[in-house]
Amino acid sequence: MAAFPTTRMRRMRAHDWSRRLMREHTLTPNDLIWTLVVSDKADPTEPVASMPGVKRLSVKAAADAARRARDLGIPAIAIFPHIDPSLKDENGREADNPDGLVAQAIKAMKDAAPEVGIICDVALDPFTDHGHDGLIEDGVILNDATVERLCSQALMQAASGADVVAPSDMMDGRIGSIREALDAEGFQDTMIMSYAAKYASAFYGPYRDAIGSATALQGDKKTYQMDPANTDEAIREVALDIDEGADMIMVKPGLPYLDIVARLKATFEMPTYAFQVSGEYAMIQAAAQNGWIDGERAMLESLLAFKRAGADGVLTYFAPKAAELLNG
Ligand code: PBG
Repeated sequence: MAAFPTTRMRRMRAHDWSRRLMREHTLTPNDLIWTLVVSDKADPTEPVASMPGVKRLSVKAAADAARRARDLGIPAIAIFPHIDPSLKDENGREADNPDGLVAQAIKAMKDAAPEVGIICDVALDPFTDHGHDGLIEDGVILNDATVERLCSQALMQAASGADVVAPSDMMDGRIGSIREALDAEGFQDTMIMSYAAKYASAFYGPYRDAIGSATALQGDKKTYQMDPANTDEAIREVALDIDEGADMIMVKPGLPYLDIVARLKATFEMPTYAFQVSGEYAMIQAAAQNGWIDGERAMLESLLAFKRAGADGVLTYFAPKAAELLNG
Protein backbone atom coordinates (compact mmCIF):
# COMPACT_ATOMS: atom_id res chain seq x y z
CA MET A 1 0.00 0.00 0.00
CA ALA A 2 1.29 3.43 -0.92
CA ALA A 3 2.07 5.70 2.01
CA PHE A 4 0.64 9.13 2.75
CA PRO A 5 0.31 11.50 0.92
CA THR A 6 -0.18 9.22 -2.11
CA THR A 7 -2.80 7.29 -0.12
CA ARG A 8 -5.42 9.40 1.57
CA MET A 9 -8.00 7.23 3.32
CA ARG A 10 -10.40 10.15 3.65
CA ARG A 11 -10.74 10.40 -0.16
CA MET A 12 -13.19 7.47 -0.23
CA ARG A 13 -15.07 8.70 2.82
CA ALA A 14 -15.72 12.12 1.34
CA HIS A 15 -19.11 11.40 -0.28
CA ASP A 16 -22.21 9.53 0.64
CA TRP A 17 -22.09 7.63 -2.70
CA SER A 18 -18.47 6.48 -2.24
CA ARG A 19 -19.11 5.49 1.35
CA ARG A 20 -22.05 3.41 0.17
CA LEU A 21 -19.95 1.89 -2.58
CA MET A 22 -17.27 0.58 -0.24
CA ARG A 23 -19.60 -0.55 2.54
CA GLU A 24 -18.71 -4.14 3.46
CA HIS A 25 -21.69 -5.14 5.61
CA THR A 26 -25.36 -4.36 5.59
CA LEU A 27 -28.21 -4.97 7.96
CA THR A 28 -31.64 -5.95 6.65
CA PRO A 29 -34.81 -7.26 8.29
CA ASN A 30 -33.67 -10.71 7.11
CA ASP A 31 -30.99 -10.60 9.80
CA LEU A 32 -33.45 -10.19 12.67
CA ILE A 33 -35.04 -12.68 15.03
CA TRP A 34 -37.63 -10.98 17.21
CA THR A 35 -37.38 -12.06 20.86
CA LEU A 36 -40.85 -11.80 22.30
CA VAL A 37 -42.28 -12.39 25.77
CA VAL A 38 -45.69 -14.04 25.98
CA SER A 39 -47.77 -14.09 29.11
CA ASP A 40 -50.83 -15.98 30.32
CA LYS A 41 -51.88 -12.85 32.18
CA ALA A 42 -51.16 -9.89 29.92
CA ASP A 43 -54.28 -8.01 29.10
CA PRO A 44 -53.45 -7.78 26.22
CA THR A 45 -50.03 -6.26 26.87
CA GLU A 46 -48.13 -5.21 29.97
CA PRO A 47 -44.87 -3.28 30.08
CA VAL A 48 -41.64 -4.76 31.44
CA ALA A 49 -40.27 -2.07 33.76
CA SER A 50 -36.60 -2.82 33.19
CA MET A 51 -36.98 -3.03 29.40
CA PRO A 52 -38.56 0.21 28.18
CA GLY A 53 -40.50 -0.48 24.96
CA VAL A 54 -40.87 -4.22 25.61
CA LYS A 55 -44.24 -5.61 26.57
CA ARG A 56 -45.43 -9.00 27.63
CA LEU A 57 -48.05 -10.08 25.12
CA SER A 58 -51.17 -12.15 25.50
CA VAL A 59 -51.58 -15.09 23.11
CA LYS A 60 -53.85 -12.99 20.93
CA ALA A 61 -51.40 -10.07 20.89
CA ALA A 62 -48.61 -12.54 20.03
CA ALA A 63 -50.60 -13.68 17.00
CA ASP A 64 -50.86 -10.02 15.93
CA ALA A 65 -47.09 -9.71 16.43
CA ALA A 66 -46.54 -12.67 14.10
CA ARG A 67 -48.53 -10.88 11.39
CA ARG A 68 -46.53 -7.74 12.04
CA ALA A 69 -43.25 -9.70 11.71
CA ARG A 70 -44.42 -11.07 8.39
CA ASP A 71 -45.36 -7.61 7.14
CA LEU A 72 -42.01 -6.19 8.26
CA GLY A 73 -40.02 -8.99 6.62
CA ILE A 74 -38.70 -10.40 9.90
CA PRO A 75 -38.03 -14.12 9.24
CA ALA A 76 -38.58 -15.54 12.71
CA ILE A 77 -39.78 -14.94 16.26
CA ALA A 78 -38.31 -16.52 19.40
CA ILE A 79 -40.83 -16.79 22.21
CA PHE A 80 -40.22 -16.67 25.96
CA PRO A 81 -43.01 -17.40 28.43
CA HIS A 82 -44.03 -15.53 31.56
CA ILE A 83 -46.27 -17.96 33.42
CA ASP A 84 -48.36 -17.53 36.50
CA PRO A 85 -46.27 -18.14 39.67
CA SER A 86 -48.89 -20.64 40.85
CA LEU A 87 -47.89 -22.93 37.95
CA LYS A 88 -44.23 -22.99 38.96
CA ASP A 89 -42.81 -25.83 41.01
CA GLU A 90 -39.52 -27.48 41.84
CA ASN A 91 -39.54 -29.69 38.76
CA GLY A 92 -40.93 -27.25 36.22
CA ARG A 93 -43.87 -29.54 35.54
CA GLU A 94 -45.58 -26.94 33.34
CA ALA A 95 -42.65 -26.94 30.86
CA ASP A 96 -44.08 -29.69 28.63
CA ASN A 97 -47.78 -29.01 29.11
CA PRO A 98 -49.35 -29.58 25.67
CA ASP A 99 -52.17 -27.17 26.58
CA GLY A 100 -49.98 -24.60 28.32
CA LEU A 101 -49.09 -21.04 27.37
CA VAL A 102 -46.20 -21.95 25.06
CA ALA A 103 -48.27 -24.46 23.09
CA GLN A 104 -51.12 -21.97 22.77
CA ALA A 105 -48.78 -19.19 21.65
CA ILE A 106 -47.07 -21.36 19.01
CA LYS A 107 -50.42 -22.47 17.56
CA ALA A 108 -51.88 -18.97 17.52
CA MET A 109 -48.81 -17.51 15.87
CA LYS A 110 -48.45 -20.23 13.25
CA ASP A 111 -52.16 -19.87 12.46
CA ALA A 112 -51.82 -16.09 12.12
CA ALA A 113 -48.66 -16.07 10.00
CA PRO A 114 -47.47 -19.50 8.91
CA GLU A 115 -44.64 -17.97 6.88
CA VAL A 116 -42.90 -16.70 10.04
CA GLY A 117 -40.55 -19.19 11.73
CA ILE A 118 -41.26 -19.89 15.39
CA ILE A 119 -38.33 -20.60 17.69
CA CYS A 120 -38.88 -21.94 21.21
CA ASP A 121 -36.53 -21.77 24.15
CA VAL A 122 -35.88 -25.18 25.70
CA ALA A 123 -35.03 -24.75 29.40
CA LEU A 124 -36.88 -25.14 32.67
CA ASP A 125 -36.26 -21.74 34.27
CA PRO A 126 -39.55 -20.02 33.33
CA PHE A 127 -41.34 -22.95 34.99
CA THR A 128 -39.31 -23.69 38.14
CA ASP A 129 -39.96 -22.00 41.47
CA HIS A 130 -36.19 -21.79 42.09
CA GLY A 131 -35.49 -20.14 38.74
CA HIS A 132 -32.86 -22.63 37.60
CA ASP A 133 -32.78 -24.19 34.13
CA GLY A 134 -32.61 -27.72 35.47
CA LEU A 135 -33.74 -30.11 38.20
CA ILE A 136 -32.01 -29.75 41.55
CA GLU A 137 -31.04 -32.31 44.16
CA ASP A 138 -29.25 -31.22 47.33
CA GLY A 139 -28.32 -27.93 45.70
CA VAL A 140 -26.80 -29.60 42.62
CA ILE A 141 -28.27 -29.09 39.14
CA LEU A 142 -28.79 -32.59 37.76
CA ASN A 143 -27.60 -33.06 34.20
CA ASP A 144 -29.04 -36.29 32.81
CA ALA A 145 -32.39 -36.08 34.58
CA THR A 146 -32.77 -32.51 33.29
CA VAL A 147 -32.00 -33.61 29.72
CA GLU A 148 -34.92 -36.05 29.89
CA ARG A 149 -37.26 -33.22 30.83
CA LEU A 150 -35.84 -31.04 28.07
CA CYS A 151 -36.54 -33.78 25.49
CA SER A 152 -40.13 -33.87 26.61
CA GLN A 153 -40.37 -30.07 26.48
CA ALA A 154 -38.85 -29.96 22.96
CA LEU A 155 -41.26 -32.68 21.78
CA MET A 156 -44.24 -30.69 23.07
CA GLN A 157 -42.98 -27.60 21.24
CA ALA A 158 -42.43 -29.50 17.98
CA ALA A 159 -45.84 -31.14 18.27
CA SER A 160 -47.41 -27.69 18.80
CA GLY A 161 -45.87 -26.49 15.55
CA ALA A 162 -42.56 -24.88 16.53
CA ASP A 163 -40.15 -24.78 13.60
CA VAL A 164 -37.02 -24.54 15.72
CA VAL A 165 -36.24 -25.69 19.24
CA ALA A 166 -33.49 -23.74 20.95
CA PRO A 167 -31.98 -25.37 24.04
CA SER A 168 -30.68 -22.59 26.31
CA ASP A 169 -29.99 -24.69 29.38
CA MET A 170 -26.32 -25.65 28.82
CA MET A 171 -26.72 -29.23 30.09
CA ASP A 172 -24.23 -31.66 28.57
CA GLY A 173 -25.49 -33.97 25.84
CA ARG A 174 -28.86 -32.32 25.37
CA ILE A 175 -28.53 -31.60 21.66
CA GLY A 176 -27.97 -35.27 20.79
CA SER A 177 -30.75 -36.45 23.08
CA ILE A 178 -33.23 -33.90 21.74
CA ARG A 179 -32.36 -34.75 18.11
CA GLU A 180 -32.91 -38.42 18.84
CA ALA A 181 -36.20 -37.75 20.62
CA LEU A 182 -37.47 -35.55 17.78
CA ASP A 183 -36.48 -38.06 15.11
CA ALA A 184 -38.11 -40.93 17.00
CA GLU A 185 -41.42 -39.06 16.98
CA GLY A 186 -41.28 -38.08 13.30
CA PHE A 187 -40.08 -34.51 13.82
CA GLN A 188 -36.99 -34.94 11.66
CA ASP A 189 -37.60 -31.56 10.02
CA THR A 190 -37.68 -29.60 13.29
CA MET A 191 -34.46 -27.59 13.48
CA ILE A 192 -32.23 -27.20 16.51
CA MET A 193 -30.67 -23.84 17.28
CA SER A 194 -28.23 -24.46 20.07
CA TYR A 195 -27.40 -21.83 22.65
CA ALA A 196 -23.97 -23.39 22.22
CA ALA A 197 -21.78 -20.77 23.83
CA LYS A 198 -23.83 -19.29 26.62
CA TYR A 199 -22.10 -17.43 29.40
CA ALA A 200 -23.06 -16.93 33.06
CA SER A 201 -23.79 -13.26 32.55
CA ALA A 202 -25.01 -10.25 34.49
CA PHE A 203 -26.66 -9.02 31.28
CA TYR A 204 -29.67 -11.36 31.69
CA GLY A 205 -30.99 -9.34 34.64
CA PRO A 206 -33.97 -7.65 32.96
CA TYR A 207 -35.04 -10.93 31.30
CA ARG A 208 -35.60 -12.50 34.71
CA ASP A 209 -37.89 -9.57 35.43
CA ALA A 210 -39.61 -10.07 32.05
CA ILE A 211 -40.41 -13.77 32.65
CA GLY A 212 -40.96 -13.36 36.38
CA SER A 213 -38.04 -15.41 37.71
CA ALA A 214 -36.04 -12.48 39.10
CA THR A 215 -37.13 -12.88 42.69
CA ALA A 216 -37.11 -16.65 42.44
CA LEU A 217 -33.54 -17.34 41.36
CA GLN A 218 -31.50 -18.87 44.15
CA GLY A 219 -27.74 -18.62 43.68
CA ASP A 220 -26.22 -18.32 40.22
CA LYS A 221 -25.88 -20.43 37.07
CA LYS A 222 -22.11 -20.83 37.07
CA THR A 223 -22.15 -24.64 37.27
CA TYR A 224 -23.79 -24.88 33.86
CA GLN A 225 -23.31 -21.60 31.99
CA MET A 226 -19.80 -20.68 30.84
CA ASP A 227 -17.19 -18.54 32.52
CA PRO A 228 -16.98 -15.12 30.80
CA ALA A 229 -13.19 -15.46 30.97
CA ASN A 230 -13.06 -18.32 28.46
CA THR A 231 -12.76 -18.66 24.68
CA ASP A 232 -11.30 -22.14 24.08
CA GLU A 233 -14.12 -23.62 26.13
CA ALA A 234 -16.60 -22.11 23.65
CA ILE A 235 -14.88 -23.94 20.80
CA ARG A 236 -15.27 -27.26 22.60
CA GLU A 237 -18.90 -26.56 23.54
CA VAL A 238 -19.79 -25.72 19.96
CA ALA A 239 -17.85 -28.65 18.48
CA LEU A 240 -19.86 -31.01 20.70
CA ASP A 241 -23.19 -29.45 19.76
CA ILE A 242 -22.43 -29.61 16.03
CA ASP A 243 -21.38 -33.22 16.45
CA GLU A 244 -24.68 -33.95 18.22
CA GLY A 245 -26.72 -32.44 15.39
CA ALA A 246 -27.19 -28.70 15.95
CA ASP A 247 -28.37 -26.98 12.77
CA MET A 248 -27.50 -23.50 14.01
CA ILE A 249 -25.27 -22.23 16.78
CA MET A 250 -25.72 -19.18 18.96
CA VAL A 251 -23.56 -16.99 21.16
CA LYS A 252 -25.06 -15.27 24.18
CA PRO A 253 -24.81 -12.50 25.34
CA GLY A 254 -24.06 -10.62 22.14
CA LEU A 255 -22.11 -7.40 21.98
CA PRO A 256 -19.66 -8.11 24.84
CA TYR A 257 -18.89 -11.46 23.14
CA LEU A 258 -18.27 -10.46 19.52
CA ASP A 259 -14.81 -12.04 19.70
CA ILE A 260 -16.54 -15.37 20.34
CA VAL A 261 -18.92 -14.84 17.41
CA ALA A 262 -16.02 -14.06 15.07
CA ARG A 263 -13.93 -17.01 16.22
CA LEU A 264 -16.80 -19.51 16.05
CA LYS A 265 -17.86 -18.38 12.58
CA ALA A 266 -14.28 -18.62 11.31
CA THR A 267 -13.72 -22.01 12.94
CA PHE A 268 -16.94 -23.85 12.12
CA GLU A 269 -18.53 -22.01 9.16
CA MET A 270 -21.96 -22.83 10.60
CA PRO A 271 -25.13 -20.72 10.53
CA THR A 272 -24.18 -18.56 13.51
CA TYR A 273 -26.40 -16.24 15.57
CA ALA A 274 -25.89 -13.85 18.45
CA PHE A 275 -28.38 -12.93 21.15
CA GLN A 276 -28.47 -9.24 22.02
CA VAL A 277 -29.83 -9.94 25.49
CA SER A 278 -32.13 -8.02 27.77
CA GLY A 279 -29.37 -6.13 29.60
CA GLU A 280 -27.84 -4.95 26.34
CA TYR A 281 -31.25 -3.72 25.23
CA ALA A 282 -31.90 -2.04 28.59
CA MET A 283 -28.57 -0.20 28.53
CA ILE A 284 -29.22 1.35 25.13
CA GLN A 285 -32.80 2.26 26.02
CA ALA A 286 -31.88 3.73 29.40
CA ALA A 287 -29.12 5.91 27.97
CA ALA A 288 -31.38 7.00 25.13
CA GLN A 289 -34.21 7.89 27.53
CA ASN A 290 -31.80 10.09 29.43
CA GLY A 291 -30.79 11.81 26.24
CA TRP A 292 -27.24 10.55 26.62
CA ILE A 293 -27.08 8.71 23.29
CA ASP A 294 -29.09 8.67 20.09
CA GLY A 295 -31.07 5.48 20.73
CA GLU A 296 -31.95 4.68 17.12
CA ARG A 297 -28.41 5.13 15.88
CA ALA A 298 -26.98 3.11 18.78
CA MET A 299 -29.51 0.34 18.08
CA LEU A 300 -28.66 0.09 14.37
CA GLU A 301 -24.92 0.38 15.00
CA SER A 302 -25.02 -2.43 17.58
CA LEU A 303 -26.99 -4.67 15.20
CA LEU A 304 -24.61 -3.97 12.32
CA ALA A 305 -21.66 -4.85 14.59
CA PHE A 306 -23.01 -8.41 14.83
CA LYS A 307 -22.98 -8.70 11.06
CA ARG A 308 -19.44 -7.36 10.88
CA ALA A 309 -18.33 -9.96 13.44
CA GLY A 310 -19.72 -12.71 11.22
CA ALA A 311 -23.16 -13.42 12.65
CA ASP A 312 -25.81 -14.54 10.16
CA GLY A 313 -28.53 -13.06 12.32
CA VAL A 314 -29.30 -11.45 15.66
CA LEU A 315 -31.91 -12.30 18.27
CA THR A 316 -33.05 -8.91 19.51
CA TYR A 317 -35.87 -7.14 21.33
CA PHE A 318 -35.27 -4.29 18.87
CA ALA A 319 -36.39 -6.38 15.87
CA PRO A 320 -39.70 -4.64 15.02
CA LYS A 321 -38.32 -1.15 15.61
CA ALA A 322 -35.14 -1.87 13.64
CA ALA A 323 -37.08 -3.47 10.77
CA GLU A 324 -39.39 -0.45 10.60
CA LEU A 325 -36.41 1.89 10.28
CA LEU A 326 -34.62 -0.36 7.78
CA ASN A 327 -37.73 -0.59 5.63
CA GLY A 328 -37.85 3.20 5.55
C1 PBG B 1 -33.20 -19.30 29.99
C2 PBG B 1 -32.86 -18.08 29.21
C3 PBG B 1 -32.28 -16.90 29.69
C4 PBG B 1 -32.29 -16.02 28.61
C5 PBG B 1 -32.81 -16.69 27.51
N1 PBG B 1 -33.15 -17.97 27.90
C6 PBG B 1 -31.83 -16.52 31.04
C7 PBG B 1 -30.79 -17.27 31.71
O1 PBG B 1 -30.16 -18.16 31.16
O2 PBG B 1 -30.55 -17.02 32.90
C8 PBG B 1 -31.81 -14.59 28.65
C9 PBG B 1 -32.41 -13.69 27.63
C10 PBG B 1 -32.15 -12.25 27.84
O3 PBG B 1 -31.47 -11.83 28.81
O4 PBG B 1 -32.63 -11.47 27.01
N2 PBG B 1 -32.36 -20.32 30.03
